[in-house]
Amino acid sequence: MTAPKKLFVKTYGCQMNVYDSERMAGALAERGYETTEDQAEADMILLNTCHIREKAAEKVYSELGRLKPLKTAKPDLKIGVAGCVAQAEGEEIMRRQPMVDLVVGPQAYHRLPQLEDQVQTGARALDTDFPEEDKFDHLPPARGPKARRAPSAFLTVQEGCDKFCAFCVVPYTRGAEVSRPAERLLAEARDLVERGVVEVTLLGQNVNAYHGAGPDGDWTLARLIREMARIDGLERIRFTTSHPRDMDDDLIAAHGEVDKLMPYLHLPVQAGSDKVLKAMNRQHTAEDYFRLIDRIRDARPDIALSGDFIVGFPGETEADFQDTLHLVREVTYAQAYSFKYSARPGTPAAERTEVPEDEKSDRLARLQALLKEQQEAFQTSMIGKTLPVLLEKPGREDGQLVGKSPYLQAVHLQADAALMGQIVDARVVETRTNSLAAVRA
Ligand code: SAH
Ligand code: SF4
Ligand code: F3S
Repeated sequence: MTAPKKLFVKTYGCQMNVYDSERMAGALAERGYETTEDQAEADMILLNTCHIREKAAEKVYSELGRLKPLKTAKPDLKIGVAGCVAQAEGEEIMRRQPMVDLVVGPQAYHRLPQLEDQVQTGARALDTDFPEEDKFDHLPPARGPKARRAPSAFLTVQEGCDKFCAFCVVPYTRGAEVSRPAERLLAEARDLVERGVVEVTLLGQNVNAYHGAGPDGDWTLARLIREMARIDGLERIRFTTSHPRDMDDDLIAAHGEVDKLMPYLHLPVQAGSDKVLKAMNRQHTAEDYFRLIDRIRDARPDIALSGDFIVGFPGETEADFQDTLHLVREVTYAQAYSFKYSARPGTPAAERTEVPEDEKSDRLARLQALLKEQQEAFQTSMIGKTLPVLLEKPGREDGQLVGKSPYLQAVHLQADAALMGQIVDARVVETRTNSLAAVRA
């Protein structure tokens, strides 16, 4: 028997990429690959890339530069580029980087075994098609460190996006919105639970637009969540990322009615000025968002809200930016992500006049200061509270485990390693910006 070949995957970007990396490892297991966390021993290195902002996309070229000596020393080493940069710039990568053997776009991962065959003959392989078939129907189960590290797993339920926000590459790199059939997802969730998973995060670029075929017509995300909640042994359900336009009544109600649905919602708004929201093609106003937040909080008063913000979108004035700060003050976030606008080739906004870089930086600093203040206030409000914590992995200190609160906070506590994968009550004794320290209650 030949020794297994080693696959090293480096993942950039969103949670969908994390999930896809493990499914790619599953596909390459069919060709005898085992995953490794040591790049030096790899027979194949796969970069799963992100194209969302310029900096993210540049990382792939600098990483390829770093890999050059390795490839020179080990000519049999195969180097592959997957993910959204592969989709957007696959041919350019092939042209600029002769050392790249393989380029595969996000919708073609199920063809990896055949592409690998091609690469083994010494040929270069490129596949950035958007095939008709659903790649997940043809992909074997996930492999790799995350898949082994139950108890929390991702499950992609829909992919792609039809919203075409003026700044965003996702509709181009991931393609049109496609939802996976409901019963298949329930079966996959049951499989995960059998493997020890107790928390599932349903993934989609526009997850609440989910409308997968069910036994009695299309199911909404709310319906899928309600049915998934009936699976014994599955204790926690989360979903991300949502668009404000697709938060329907039933999904809002589910937050008050489904105990297993965790009280945390990532609901990006991007900006607080109606003029900017319109220019972004977000298809909602700030007022729509406020009303939505009120309804969500009526259904689930303790919900922790998270969001995404872009500052310095073309045409954004200081007054528009003040509207964003106002929105943040009105809503109050438990945590949030914020970015400087980054022009992406091929998107409508890339044609527009940019806000000067120093203004973008200044606005980002001011927004982040406010968001940090809110996040710290949310963390501090946890002191003295007893929370159910899902214990996920060993902590840095001896005898310490790290888990998650219902509000998606990392929680450190002293606990027996045998409790890993269980939900225990813990009282919060100390808080930091990004984590809580607790003791068993
Ligand atoms: N599907 C998700 C987000 C995908 S990208 C959604 O619709 O919310 C994640 C975040 O990156 C976006 O919410 C946005 O805040 C940010 N982003 C996307 N394109 C960007 C760009 N061109 N410049 C800066 N930030 C961007
Ligand atoms: Fe991008 Fe907008 Fe679609 Fe989100 S909703 S993925 S920001 S186009
Ligand atoms: Fe990046 Fe593609 Fe995800 S651009 S954020 S890896 S969908």
